[in-house]
Amino acid sequence: MDIAIAADHAGYHLKELLKREMGKRGHHLEDLGTFSSQSTDYPDFARKAAEAVAAGRFPLGIVICGTGIGVSITANKVPGIRAALCNELYSAQLSREHNNANILAMGSRIVGPGLAFRIVEAFINTDFSGGRHAGRLEKIRQLEGRYAGERTREEPGSGC
Ligand code: RB5
Repeated sequence: MDIAIAADHAGYHLKELLKREMGKRGHHLEDLGTFSSQSTDYPDFARKAAEAVAAGRFPLGIVICGTGIGVSITANKVPGIRAALCNELYSAQLSREHNNANILAMGSRIVGPGLAFRIVEAFINTDFSGGRHAGRLEKIRQLEGRYAGERTREEPGSGC
């Protein structure tokens, strides 16, 4: 399976390990950066993976930062993205079965490499179970549509 992957500096080393290990298992992880451990801003990279998945270039994506929180918040701002922060196996499996998550977020400062591989495998090998869950996703989609096109609220003091 072709999967988009992106990380900030904190997630850089785990991203490199995952590319190598998942490659051995027949998966191609398309690297959207960052390309070194030099300090970066996680929104820049989470956005790349989220936009690539939302545009249909990849069925699934993986985003990594220190905790996984920043990249998951960012990815979920892109319409059509359902990013799930999963630092253990149960959430990874259920995020696919119940939520049809299309982005997996992980924290490189929380999970070790061995657990991270297992989380990725659980995520990509589990299918959405549909049924009652489909209607719930439709409610999320409708909520997203309700705010689509709304101007980004300007912060106080940001000028006009
Ligand atoms: C970077 O130090 C860290 O803040 C970032 O990787 C992430 O954990 C943010 O949510």
